[in-house]
Amino acid sequence: MGYFKVNGPVKLHGEVEISGSKNASLPIIAASLISFDEVVIENVPDLLDIRTMIDILESINFNVSFSDGVVRVRPEFENVNTNVPYELVRKMRASFNVLGPLAARYGKAKVALPGGCSIGVRPVNFHIEGLEKLGFEVTIEHGFVEAKLVKPNNGKIILPKPSVGATEHLMTTAAAIEGIEVVIENAAMEPEIVDLQEFLRKLGVEIEGAGTSRIRIKGGVKRKAVVHKVIPDRIEAGTYVIAIAATGGEGVVKNLDSEHLNSLWEVLEKIGVDLRIDKNKVYVKMEGKPKPVDVNVSPYPGFPTDLQPQIMTLLTVASGTSYIKENVFQTRFLHVDELKRMGADIEITDGTAIIKGVEGLSGAPVNGTDLRATAALLIAAFMANGKSEIHHVEHIFRGYENVCKKFGKLGGKIEYVGVKEYIE
Ligand code: EPZ
Repeated sequence: MGYFKVNGPVKLHGEVEISGSKNASLPIIAASLISFDEVVIENVPDLLDIRTMIDILESINFNVSFSDGVVRVRPEFENVNTNVPYELVRKMRASFNVLGPLAARYGKAKVALPGGCSIGVRPVNFHIEGLEKLGFEVTIEHGFVEAKLVKPNNGKIILPKPSVGATEHLMTTAAAIEGIEVVIENAAMEPEIVDLQEFLRKLGVEIEGAGTSRIRIKGGVKRKAVVHKVIPDRIEAGTYVIAIAATGGEGVVKNLDSEHLNSLWEVLEKIGVDLRIDKNKVYVKMEGKPKPVDVNVSPYPGFPTDLQPQIMTLLTVASGTSYIKENVFQTRFLHVDELKRMGADIEITDGTAIIKGVEGLSGAPVNGTDLRATAALLIAAFMANGKSEIHHVEHIFRGYENVCKKFGKLGGKIEYVGVKEYIE
């Protein structure tokens, strides 16, 4: 597994370049299953999750290559395997989103039911109910979900919650069904969904409304090759901005799309961070103690749940008490006990974290529990006085490209102790 050794405190300073979005790349790679011709996807970050999605397409017998940030997918029509094995879905729940496109293109498909994970129960009932509305017969047994396209249905799908994955899964599946006309209501509005819409349009699909809560799709893919460059990773960008501010540093975060992070800028300005925001870069400087704030985590354009552990870490040393209400994954607080081991003062009551500012954090051995929690602990280690060890860092290699090099360039030296099987 391996772990990181970090000596704090350090004021992160300098320039960092943001990579392409993991959460835009994954649904677009899955959507390449519905293409009839070659798909080239650019600006794809080299991450464990991306490699898992590529493994899935290869397990289906598609021809996939990935080098220098470019994923090239050549569809297969003869010996397609439409059963996706559990060991791949277990590694990454986004794998489940190949079910609909595969079943739409090849008539039926079977994918393992994703399990839970450390940020909470991760059901897929919205996905399954949506596929049934589209005209699939869905059966669940022995931990697998099988979908068969029986009779395509036009109509409206109303999502009980604005689920990112369900929105992307149902958009892509409807896009693959020639002639179907579908509206998705209460759709998620994340920038990654807008990027998926742009990709599907390049495939010739008639689709509009991504970025709003109502997406209209007229299914049907044209026969043509497609090239698409994915958007910058707004969560990676937000993580580095928070890291520079949390360590009282100064720096420039480049290659981001600043419009994707308006909810973060609002919170950081209340905290007292000095920000100069351009379209594709942000200057960050933090002097003195952060001011306490209230943060309301909610679906886009609200404050992103994927930056909740990171902003909490910054607020552990604020000059008062902050409140963070987690409205997306109510139990996404496994990083709290680890931060308390480093001296933070945090209590959780029914989905709200109450963070009383302390003078400073102290280095300690801590455990990463999920991708963003582990990133938060790395920020805490740079803030803390003394030595820290962050265990289970395989989580961080799932979502942060060249994380050791990027933090190293900011003065945040990370010693990685472990099997070099992971991407550094
Ligand atoms: C996506 O997960 C992201 N993953 C997550 O990022 C992110 O935290 C999440 O959206 C919320 O923004 C990818 O894009 C690959 P949801 P997803 O469906 O799609 C409930 C990261 O760190 N729900 O929007 O799985 C669910 O329990 C990851 O990069 C159902 O009840 O999230 C949650 O409460 C972590 N039934 C809410 O909806 C369903 O069928 C939102 O989840 C589906 C979801």
